[in-house]
Amino acid sequence: MSTRTDGHTQAGASQSIDVDDPKVSRFDIVREGARRDDIEIVHYEAQFPVPGTKAERRLTRTLTGIFLLVGLFATAFVVAYIWWPWEYKPGSGAGKFYTPVLGLTLGLALLGVGFGILAWGKKLLPKEVSIQDRHIEPASDEERKITGNTLVYMADELGVRRRPLLGISLLAGLAPIGAVAAAPLVGGLIEQPHKNNQYFTTGWHPTDGKLIHLTHHDGTPVRPEDVSPGGQITVFPGIEGGATNKHADSPVLLIHLREGDASEARAANQRDGKPESMWNNYIAFSKICTHAGCPASLYEQQTNRLLCPCHQSQFLITDNARPIFGPASRRLPQLPLTVEEGFFAAKSDFTETVGPDFWERP
Ligand code: FES
Repeated sequence: MSTRTDGHTQAGASQSIDVDDPKVSRFDIVREGARRDDIEIVHYEAQFPVPGTKAERRLTRTLTGIFLLVGLFATAFVVAYIWWPWEYKPGSGAGKFYTPVLGLTLGLALLGVGFGILAWGKKLLPKEVSIQDRHIEPASDEERKITGNTLVYMADELGVRRRPLLGISLLAGLAPIGAVAAAPLVGGLIEQPHKNNQYFTTGWHPTDGKLIHLTHHDGTPVRPEDVSPGGQITVFPGIEGGATNKHADSPVLLIHLREGDASEARAANQRDGKPESMWNNYIAFSKICTHAGCPASLYEQQTNRLLCPCHQSQFLITDNARPIFGPASRRLPQLPLTVEEGFFAAKSDFTETVGPDFWERP
């Protein structure tokens, strides 16, 4: 039974045929189905009436090449996305090529898919012109059989069965495209948040048993005399890059409270189980707002309130930085203070997670 048509028209299609007759070809059944659906096949012509010609083989090879390239680019995207050791570093470096490489590989893969499918449809599939009237009645069993045969016939005409190389290349090209869609999900799982304990430590974490000093923006250590009563300054961990984006979770507001306010703050610390967190009348809190991570640094010394300018959250410094207004619902983490040889140092890292909520916070 032939499954190819080398040029058909609707001539003679007005008579019904017996679709169970083993002598009728699959195309005859397809045409019968079209007739019953009031479809007029005006023109139907195979692109390559004689199978296996040089031209057909050349076209098959071209399409194969395109789909293999698609697979290559899509695989390159997945590899770059998951294994590229990208990390932000100021200046130049391989990291700056990360995004362009992702864009280029994904763009070329999608372009290849589009081009390959277009070329397949235009150059390989039979040319067909049909006209169909609409009808709304449900299909009979016989019509369903016809539809099934039509679908199988179309699969045959796609040529994958006759051109296995094309089928393999299509699979090789499209499977990595599927992986591309999954890459962001899988990639998100691979870069796990506990790596290097990065969500639980900041620049204040003691290194080699040494406490980290509080420093000004230029790296000079901070002394108690640097902040007058009622005043405040922003301080950074005294480590390499402590005042840079590398330690963006570490800026701290060091406040020198007036005597009465300091007593109040000390009592609140005592009540909350942090008796040794202040040093004399000095107290320090993370500047990273617990709402959405903006720098909270508008300190009003009359009321001891720290305001975050982003969404107006206010924290009461004398009550262990309790949020008293705005969307923030969690206190600012406190940095336990001490003084070593006349300079401020952090007794330990923060004991609570800095910044906005994340998945492991109760
Ligand atoms: S980020 Fe501070 S109030 Fe929203």
